[in-house]
Amino acid sequence: MKFLTAKSTLPFLGLLGMFTFFSLSSTSLKAQEDGEKLFKSYCASCHSAGNNQLVGPGLAGVYDKYEREWLYKWIKNSQSLIESGDQQAVAVYEQYNKVLMPAQPVNNEQIDAILTYIKDYNEKAPAAEAATADAGEVEQVEVESSDNTTYIALGLVLVLLILISVLRKVQYSLSIVEAKKRGEDVPEEKGMKDALAHWVQTNKTIVALMGIVVIALIAKAGWDTAINIGVYTGYEPEQPIKFSHKLHAGTNGIDCQYCHTSASYSKSAGIPSANLCMNCHAYIQEGPQYGKEEIAKIYAALDFDPVTKTYGPNTKPIKWVKVHNLPDHVYFNHSQHVAVGKINCQKCHGPVETYTVGKQHESLTMGWCINCHRETKVQMEGNGYYDEIHERLPENLKKQYLEDGTITVSELGGIECAKCHY
Ligand code: HEC
Ligand code: HEC
Ligand code: HEC
Ligand code: HEC
Ligand code: HEC
Ligand code: HEC
Repeated sequence: MKFLTAKSTLPFLGLLGMFTFFSLSSTSLKAQEDGEKLFKSYCASCHSAGNNQLVGPGLAGVYDKYEREWLYKWIKNSQSLIESGDQQAVAVYEQYNKVLMPAQPVNNEQIDAILTYIKDYNEKAPAAEAATADAGEVEQVEVESSDNTTYIALGLVLVLLILISVLRKVQYSLSIVEAKKRGEDVPEEKGMKDALAHWVQTNKTIVALMGIVVIALIAKAGWDTAINIGVYTGYEPEQPIKFSHKLHAGTNGIDCQYCHTSASYSKSAGIPSANLCMNCHAYIQEGPQYGKEEIAKIYAALDFDPVTKTYGPNTKPIKWVKVHNLPDHVYFNHSQHVAVGKINCQKCHGPVETYTVGKQHESLTMGWCINCHRETKVQMEGNGYYDEIHERLPENLKKQYLEDGTITVSELGGIECAKCHY
């Protein structure tokens, strides 16, 4: 009897652990990220998450100030709430000069996520808001997500292992007592491996179940990653100055490398400094769309007086938000692609000369890099860089090149792990 209970609790503990891990891994972190994204796409055009008044009031504190049910109704359709005569709604409407907040296409769950984001935002960084107050809501958006589910899983596994070994000891001592009572020989203690093999033999269904759970977990992790990749494609953060590539590289035909000077000779393409903007903007003081307002931000960064054309001492760099972010363990080199590979910027960055706001055009996943390395034929002819490489090619590749003139990046070693990973 006693063995039975000990034996049958084990697998259930196992399953329990797995399910705990399963549910933990999919909750809070994700919601937090979504909240931020939702806030930025639906609310940030009119509200700050802190205390600043934009079109509407700052939203710090609304999660405490109002009932959740009221907030759902207000956010989904403030107008009908006001018209229904809800006193609180009318009061808010009057307080903010009778500007109507348009109905927002969000559901209760999304509202919860937004409110959680606003709450976290204020609890984590009450000072940050003040610092960026006049810079117009600039933030360095971190795209990384720290994840501690791995530790939780490891912890659970450890606890399970300890439990199993304790239970096994108990089971063994009991079997000694049992054997002595019956006057039989004391049984030998089985090794952990034998015991495990035996357990697997006798509990096939549970093993199969665990297998299914593990596969589901892996599938889920894969799915999450796939979704995240989708999110960064088209990533289009708000910038401190409304700089338009369309106006500069498109309408005015300024060459990409006039501003991104280092693309052809260095690892990074570089973002131009405010001084470079001044080559033109010392004279061009008004733009077609924003008048003096946006260009004035360049002057503010350099403490430049457009009337006297003199520079003061109080400079503060423009904090452009980085759009593209490869992880640290990946090596990518612009000059290798631009100067040696002769690939134009648009192939990887899309039609930048039509963007009014900088954005990420491609997924930047490993598959994206590798696909192109598989498909792209290197242009060795008349490219000095390849003379020596050509000499060192193995005979079969040399022959292939002579016959049909094609060699892909991957055949030159472009899909070896060490080429892209430190
Ligand atoms: C087009 C501008 C606009 C957008 C977009 C917008 N709001 Fe508003 N919101 C307002 C205005 C204006 C007010 C002030 C109330 C009024 O005059 O009706 C307001 C008021 C509020 C209030 C009441 C604040 C208080 O302190 O009383 C909340 C809560 C709120 N908005 C939440 C949101 C959320 C959440 C979103 C995004 C899903 C959002 N709003 C999107 C304009 C907007
Ligand atoms: C007048 C200067 C100027 C010219 C010309 C210009 N850029 Fe830019 N570029 C910038 C500035 C400033 C930023 C940072 C702000 C932003 O992301 O919009 C930027 C950002 C970018 C980014 C995003 C960088 C990141 O944060 O990951 C890419 C990609 C880019 N430029 C490509 C190009 C290409 C391709 C061309 C030519 C078609 C071009 N740029 C022409 C000034 C310029
Ligand atoms: C083979 C693809 C490819 C080509 C071609 C390419 N880029 Fe990039 N670019 C990238 C990747 C990948 C990143 C992200 C690098 C990182 O995060 O380390 C990037 C980042 C940038 C950035 C952000 C700043 C930096 O250096 O990290 C700018 C600006 C930029 N590219 C401009 C250009 C311009 C201008 C050209 C053409 C002269 C160009 N790129 C050609 C793939 C490319
Ligand atoms: C090679 C010249 C040149 C450089 C360098 C240059 N710009 Fe411009 N910029 C222009 C021209 C031309 C206009 C359009 C003026 C017009 O049409 O009236 C303009 C307009 C603007 C506007 C006004 C947009 C509007 O619609 O009101 C902003 C903002 C701006 N530039 C930002 C920058 C920034 C930031 C930099 C540096 C990263 C920069 N520019 C570098 C030539 C340049
Ligand atoms: C549009 C096609 C294209 C894309 C996308 C691309 N590459 Fe390349 N890559 C090339 C070409 C062409 C070369 C050949 C230049 C040469 O021979 O070194 C090259 C060469 C390289 C090399 C040098 C290989 C060697 O044999 O020395 C590295 C490293 C590299 N790429 C990394 C990357 C990474 C990392 C990415 C993704 C973030 C990427 N590439 C995306 C086309 C591409
Ligand atoms: C042409 C460049 C390139 C080559 C070759 C390459 N990788 Fe990658 N790898 C990348 C890029 C880019 C990323 C980042 C992808 C992302 O952030 O989505 C990456 C990410 C990874 C990751 C992390 C995955 C993650 O989710 O962050 C691993 C592990 C990895 N690579 C292993 C390898 C191995 C093993 C090889 C050799 C078989 C290899 N890579 C060859 C470009 C490359």
